[in-house]
Amino acid sequence: MYAGWYQAAFEHELHPGLTPVDLGPARIVLARTPDGLRAADAACPHRGAHLGHGGQLDGSAIVCPFHGKRIGIGEQAPGRYRVREHAVLGYGGLVFAGWETGDGGPFAELLDKLAVTHLFLPGFTLPARVRADLVIENAFDGTHFRPVHGIGEDPGLTLVPGDRDSITARGVFVLPKSEWQRGGEKSVAVPFEATAYSPHVVVSRMGGDYPYVAITAATPRREGGCVIRFSLAVPLSAHEAMPAQRSEELYRYLLERSRAGVEQDLPIWENLIDVEPDYDNADRTVLAFRRFRDQFRSA
Ligand code: FES
Ligand SMILES: [Fe+2]
Repeated sequence: MYAGWYQAAFEHELHPGLTPVDLGPARIVLARTPDGLRAADAACPHRGAHLGHGGQLDGSAIVCPFHGKRIGIGEQAPGRYRVREHAVLGYGGLVFAGWETGDGGPFAELLDKLAVTHLFLPGFTLPARVRADLVIENAFDGTHFRPVHGIGEDPGLTLVPGDRDSITARGVFVLPKSEWQRGGEKSVAVPFEATAYSPHVVVSRMGGDYPYVAITAATPRREGGCVIRFSLAVPLSAHEAMPAQRSEELYRYLLERSRAGVEQDLPIWENLIDVEPDYDNADRTVLAFRRFRDQFRSA
């Protein structure tokens, strides 16, 4: 499995107390404790019961459903039995869990900043029979946009040199003119920039008349494949300047178009055949993403 940030859930998916979540093969539990939302390994250290299935929150500890022992969350918890804690980021209805991450880092910083300037809009969930990292890699696959998504021209994706903790590519989408993107005759050039913060999360900034941020997360399922969660973050300034009905229409339009985009990718992803790839020069952004991804390999 890979280390790094995963979208564990939308907030509306959480149960009142404990919610079991899988991050690929890793089984964790999200706990709404009095100190806020926390994430921990789900396996009871006594004899392995899943704490998220029948366990009860008792303050900041979990009472195991099997033999009733009190299981503390984190190293500092008192008592004999404890489970390892994982970092959690909860913003605007989105819940992320960090596997072998610290508490901070560039993704946490980004969400912190966005929370000041943007409104988060939890979007849709889509299960897919594809490896999660391939969903994220898609943002770095410049030459697929034209054939798969019918986007006018090759976006000319180039890598933006940056730090080791994230990877960014930018380009320009030529989109058909809509009521939301003006200018030009029939089409409009919309610059975009995609930054992956882990093998499972990519944040895309779209420019144009109504700039917005798209957060795409793909979380591997234990049984294979992944769950795609898509959300928007829209600038508060634009949101406040628009009548409510108008902004609702815009968000619905953006979410519908994004979902349609993912649905265009699905038949390709779900029917991929395992071959020895024969990359060409245009695949360099994909290869860069794969090198970035491989830094996250974990036991
Ligand atoms: S397995 Fe949890 S108390 Fe025994
Ligand atoms: Fe795509």
